[in-house]
Amino acid sequence: MRGRILVVDDAEVNRELLRAMLEDDYVVDTAQDGEEAIRKLWEYREETAALLLDLQMPKMDGFAVIEEIRKNGWLQKIPVLIISSESAVDIENRCFHMGVSDFIHKPFEASIVKNRIRNTVELFACKNELEREVERQTEALRKQSRIIQIQAGQLQEAEAFHTLMMQYRCAIMEIETKLKVLNEAFSRQYKRNPFESIKSRLKTSESIYEKLSRKGYPVTLENIEEKLSDVAGIRVICSFPDDIYRLAKLLIRQDDIILLKEKDYIKNPKSNGYRSLHLIISIPIFLSNEKKYMKAEVQFRTIAMDFWASLEHKLKYKKSVDNAEEIVEQLRICADSIEVLDYQMQDIRDKINEHIS
Ligand code: GTP
Ligand code: MG
Repeated sequence: MRGRILVVDDAEVNRELLRAMLEDDYVVDTAQDGEEAIRKLWEYREETAALLLDLQMPKMDGFAVIEEIRKNGWLQKIPVLIISSESAVDIENRCFHMGVSDFIHKPFEASIVKNRIRNTVELFACKNELEREVERQTEALRKQSRIIQIQAGQLQEAEAFHTLMMQYRCAIMEIETKLKVLNEAFSRQYKRNPFESIKSRLKTSESIYEKLSRKGYPVTLENIEEKLSDVAGIRVICSFPDDIYRLAKLLIRQDDIILLKEKDYIKNPKSNGYRSLHLIISIPIFLSNEKKYMKAEVQFRTIAMDFWASLEHKLKYKKSVDNAEEIVEQLRICADSIEVLDYQMQDIRDKINEHIS
């Protein structure tokens, strides 16, 4: 694309002479005074490769035009060459001082004019391209540094989150160990194991996020610790209902465990038939440089209650099950039968024990 040259001179003869010399190589536009020049620059400054400017003009002279384009910041992008009739050292110096690039002297010598303009335009094109490149690279660097900042922030947060999850895992280990120790002591005394199995789980980050959001809390480390009590979950599966209470009591009685809440869904089953004993406890873990209390949810159930709960759980997460109402009712009936069954089994166990002892 050919560059655009704006020739600004009040003398028509000068404008036409310069146009004739330059129109083979450039798109030549003209203005007869400073005001017209500024108007045209507002419109075409992006395409303008150079400005040829007379100093003495009516309305707005050349100096005022230079001042105006300097003020608008265009002098960095568009070279200005002054059209002058005589070489007056002080005027030329003043112009250079103002940021003018070169001079074209009258009478015009076509080859000199062309060469001067070509050199200046090429120099500015190079300079502008360099500046654009520097700008592009600076922007790329700025973007990179923003990305690094964000990543560093996320990394720090992720680091703190992983530390917290490690602490919950430690709490689970502590509780499991306590239960296993009780198992040993209890089985010596009662000649049977108080629980069949223990299942532990750490709440996933998705599930933590979902539960906090659902409850209307921002997802922060403080809220995870304060508002959630089931990040660390331990499920203890016992054979008989009385083992549940015996074991729970033995656990709570330990002097480093704080019972925060007890929900007895065995004595007060949920309307759907759900039965289990839930303890929300706080337990200390001993880290390299601190002792920290962690919350955990311990659920005690019989084998039969667990069997029921896992089947019922499937129904909850499959919302589009056909005949859901009928299944809910069947589950409720099963829950009642399970209660009867659990206590019947316990009676049988007691009777067997009587015979043994
Ligand atoms: P969640 O937000 O589900 O943790 O409930 P909550 O904080 O009000 O406590 P709740 O004691 O009701 O339940 C705690 C946990 O017990 C649940 O996450 C389930 O693991 C289990 N649970 C409670 N109710 C039911 C139920 O109706 N069916 C089944 N299958 N599990 C249940
Ligand atoms: Mg829960």
